[in-house]
Amino acid sequence: MTKTSSSENLGALCAQLVRRVWPCVYGADPPPLDAALELIERVVAPPAPGWSSLVSDDHTPIELSIAQRPDGPELRLLFEVPGAEATAASQGRAARALLPWLVERFGADTARLEQVAPLFLPDEHEGAFGLWYAAIFARDGSVRFKAYLDPHAHGRARAAETVERAMAELGLVDGWDRVARLAARGPALDPLTFFSLDLVAPEAARTKIYVSKHDATFDDLRAAATLAEGGDPDALAAHVRAVTGIEEGLLSAARPMVTCLGFVGDDPHPRQMTVHVPVRAYAPNDAVARDWLTRAFEASGCDGSVARCALEAFARRPLEGGSGMIPYVSHSTTGAGRCVTLYLATEWLDTHPPHGGAQGGASPDGRAPGRTAPEAVRWYADNPIAHHPFLQRLAREPLAMPRLALILLNFQHAITNEFSRRLAHTVARTDNEAVRSILAKQLNDELGDGDPTQTHRLLFDRFVDGMRPYAPEITEQTLAPGARLGATLEALYVDEPNPWIGVGATLLMEVFGQQTDSFLGDQFRRQSELPESVLLWLSLHEELEHDHVDEVFALAEHIPEGEPTRIALQGVQALATAGWAFFDDMYRLAWPA
Ligand code: TRP
Repeated sequence: MTKTSSSENLGALCAQLVRRVWPCVYGADPPPLDAALELIERVVAPPAPGWSSLVSDDHTPIELSIAQRPDGPELRLLFEVPGAEATAASQGRAARALLPWLVERFGADTARLEQVAPLFLPDEHEGAFGLWYAAIFARDGSVRFKAYLDPHAHGRARAAETVERAMAELGLVDGWDRVARLAARGPALDPLTFFSLDLVAPEAARTKIYVSKHDATFDDLRAAATLAEGGDPDALAAHVRAVTGIEEGLLSAARPMVTCLGFVGDDPHPRQMTVHVPVRAYAPNDAVARDWLTRAFEASGCDGSVARCALEAFARRPLEGGSGMIPYVSHSTTGAGRCVTLYLATEWLDTHPPHGGAQGGASPDGRAPGRTAPEAVRWYADNPIAHHPFLQRLAREPLAMPRLALILLNFQHAITNEFSRRLAHTVARTDNEAVRSILAKQLNDELGDGDPTQTHRLLFDRFVDGMRPYAPEITEQTLAPGARLGATLEALYVDEPNPWIGVGATLLMEVFGQQTDSFLGDQFRRQSELPESVLLWLSLHEELEHDHVDEVFALAEHIPEGEPTRIALQGVQALATAGWAFFDDMYRLAWPA
């Protein structure tokens, strides 16, 4: 990073850039800029000392964007009001303190924001920011606002739960299913990263939910495109191709594709699908990014002249001299048509130098879930699957024995019926004796340590039999989640030719096992109807899985670097995705949208 112009006044710079870009967007006649300039003067300021704003790569707390919408172009400013202290909670408080003025001066409507504020703005905030705003400067000089909140406010592991609860709060809970499909690979690869609300009357307010897709494929994105009304997989793929220079397959640059589903009012059917392509991670410099922007406009059929004019007016350095002035080029579809948006970073603090393209982009901060087996295990231990929205909704609603019974029946179907056989396959096929030693110990535990009456399968069957009276009618549909997970486990442990896949899966099996057992333990302790004998399996497992998790760390340490680690991590990820999908399926079964 090269230090440039941080000595200049940020507010003055922002006002200057808005003045320069404005004629491109709205034409040259006396621009009614007063409200925009008044806003900028009041809110744009450097961050608190020691605070790193996430708004831009160089931590400048503002970003401009020009959207070419079906009904015309639009100029917007994303800004982070500085907190008194360098914390997300403090930043959120400072931004909130601005609300009365936004209401008073600009007619902002904060009803929806107030509904979800308790979820996203806790006193102990664990996210990267509290509350951002985007100002939309309209042609007539009026200003509208959007608010952005951080789903990681209660930690990354709780992001899905936080968003699902917020949707419930807003009357959108039936829309969660679509969001879950967008984030289907779970929190490591598909984290929920932003939650935005229009600060307008609730009936018209859009709620947008953002999922950052790491290592996505074109197929993932095409599937995402079908989640919203008017979605167009081919148009989306053409855009991604134009802005990455990659034709098909995996999009593995350091930065994720940031996708987003938009809802209107309390209608649970998404009306908008957007993908923000991080062009800076693919194009070696901004001159190339500009060419790709042009290509994207051609592909979409939208008019690119406004964006090109704005980029030229905005640029304060040669485009080939750096990377990141254009952080994203996005594409969205609604029933009304397509929209391509150009994002512009001011580089007030730093300019990132040109780089080698898709492989040479800036490295992401803390890419999950780690590069070694122990790191991956640690990540999943720290981000428990027990925070999955299905389990959390179960825990917050009145105790429902049929649902608990259904989980157990599905576990039985997916896991316990076949687990020792599957594990034995991996034990037999690994050629690493240390690994085999640890796995064989676990296998022996599963099989009752030589006592056939004490196999975990039998204990579990007894447990499930005790729950059968509460279970709903068993059909193919009620066992579908288990069938799907079972098929994946069979593939990982038995069918996959490389046994390191099964070793990786085992690492996570034990971590997830411990997390779900202790979750279920808490749920069963909410009732007093079941005899202790039925609960034997649970208490036994709660203890045993604790030991197993320690063993799992030992096991992870024994996986050699290089190929075995690479393959084992694939097994970890495959099981992580399958486990998350299992609970997504359970959610659908329990609360059909
Ligand atoms: N800089 C952050 C990021 O890259 C946040 C952000 C700013 C962003 N503008 C954006 C994210 C546009 C997606 C799209 O993630």
